[in-house]
Amino acid sequence: MLRCKLSLPCWLPLMTGLCVLVLTVGCGKNPEAQFAWRDSTLDLLPKAREGVETAVNDAFGTPHDLVAWDKLPVHFGGVQGVVQPPAEGEKLPANQFHVQWDGSPDGVGAGSELLWMTGAIAKSKHPTAVVVKYDDVTKTLELKSKGEAPAAGDRLAVGLGSQLQLGRMVYMKNCNHCHGVAGDGNGPTAQYLNPRPRDYRLGLFKFTSTLSSEKAAREDLDRIITYGIPGTYMPSFLLLGNNDGGKEKAAVVEYVRWLAMRGEMEKRLVDELSGDYSESGLVTEAEKEKKSYADAKSEYDKARKAGNKDAEKPEPAQALSQLKKAAGEELKKFLEEDFPGTINDTSDFIADAWKRADDPASLIVPTVARVTDDAASRERGRLLYMSDKAKCYTCHGAKGRGNGPAIEDFWKKPGSNDTYARRGLHDTWGNPLPPRDLTRGQYRGGRRPIDVFARVYAGIKGTPMPAFGGTVLKDSDIWDIVNYVMSLPFEEQIPSAKPAAAPHMAATEPVGQ
Ligand code: HEC
Ligand code: HEC
Repeated sequence: MLRCKLSLPCWLPLMTGLCVLVLTVGCGKNPEAQFAWRDSTLDLLPKAREGVETAVNDAFGTPHDLVAWDKLPVHFGGVQGVVQPPAEGEKLPANQFHVQWDGSPDGVGAGSELLWMTGAIAKSKHPTAVVVKYDDVTKTLELKSKGEAPAAGDRLAVGLGSQLQLGRMVYMKNCNHCHGVAGDGNGPTAQYLNPRPRDYRLGLFKFTSTLSSEKAAREDLDRIITYGIPGTYMPSFLLLGNNDGGKEKAAVVEYVRWLAMRGEMEKRLVDELSGDYSESGLVTEAEKEKKSYADAKSEYDKARKAGNKDAEKPEPAQALSQLKKAAGEELKKFLEEDFPGTINDTSDFIADAWKRADDPASLIVPTVARVTDDAASRERGRLLYMSDKAKCYTCHGAKGRGNGPAIEDFWKKPGSNDTYARRGLHDTWGNPLPPRDLTRGQYRGGRRPIDVFARVYAGIKGTPMPAFGGTVLKDSDIWDIVNYVMSLPFEEQIPSAKPAAAPHMAATEPVGQ
């Protein structure tokens, strides 16, 4: 069932013109499932929180009322079209008309559900109609309903959102128990897993074929879902929908992207507001004021005692309630005047970034072919690995065992001066993340040499493993390092042998280049 949602553009003048549609998804196993909000969203002042939740809900909906917002680069499924005037002299019954489609009308046929997006009919209380017949030669649709006739120029959609709905169903069945309804990596099984399931809501994925500044391409997500992540609990879904020509997998890829966009939108909007309008921020502010008043007051008292009559009496600190009141007034103005623009810019930014990820210009393409994997190349690689330029050993250890000196350090949290409570590396989500033991030959991002090249070239996003390509190391240097690193698992058994596919690494992935 599809229905048009009209509320979003009304209060967001900048978004008008973009069609927003709600897809009411049929009941799944969890009728009560909700998208959980971030702790930082829940910590906002009530009006600020409402602002964020409304913006995110309007653009994305709820698990049972998904919104297909055509601003986002998501394949929502279905096809849109425009009603064409009849040819000259042609007489068509009121329930038949020609359509010019924006894409391929493959799925359109008897029984398809049709939604009017613009025109007089779109406003009727029953926006859906059912297709009785479709003739692809004359592009003529015949409808069951005999109601009001569409006019030339009216926009319609058939099966809109079908792919996202399918993606949601696949996700709820196979992924939800680890990755959580909102993609927060906090499903019921998650707490028992190390590393934890990915929280998609930063819009960050680790193992991509894209440059370090870019998001994951569709193909990257497809690959992870197909083959899983070796050495972690992320399973392989090689057999998912194996008789459906890849439909279920493609749908869940879109759903993961969509959840990532939703999560990033929430995070970025909260970040805009939390500095001035969070409960905990105001409590800290009030404490700070109280303390500085106490300090100033004791200075004043001292000065008075010493006979200084000119000492200026400090202003009393503002109570929390006063601070809240002032923040509330400021917030009201911000929400009315600036926030709609913030929402628009944020969604543009996210949509552009995800669009770019699938642009071939975002892919890592080595400028030179793999350097011949011989003893000389591996030795060059080893020297680079130990060099001050690459410093791989500081994390991975001189012998590659993942025990470099960096694991003894207290690391700073990103974007802050605070350090983590535990020694060693952490990922951007705040989870402890030891450097890989490279002697084990386990490559989470894929074990083809080109995969390892990509890891070194662009680093591992969301982790402290830095990017070396383009700046620090030449492509031929990276190949030497790849040759060295990939020889480490075999070094002790066969000191100078060429690494070959080891039997314990079952071929779950194509071994190429
Ligand atoms: C048994 C738990 C589990 C299930 C079920 C599961 N995952 Fe994962 N998934 C993980 C873990 C753990 C990681 C993180 C591994 C890491 O950090 O190296 C992960 C990571 C991912 C990533 C991130 C890849 C990257 O490059 O950052 C994606 C995407 C993903 N899973 C998608 C899915 C999808 C889609 C499904 C369902 C079809 C699914 N997962 C089912 C546990 C699971
Ligand atoms: C600041 C610490 C740090 C430095 C420096 C570093 N790495 Fe890493 N590296 C890591 C961490 C942490 C991981 C584990 C990431 C994960 O599993 O999410 C990792 C993972 C890897 C992996 C495994 C990739 C996979 O697909 O599983 C390889 C290979 C690797 N690093 C090679 C290198 C090489 C080569 C260098 C130097 C050119 C290097 N690293 C420098 C921290 C570092």
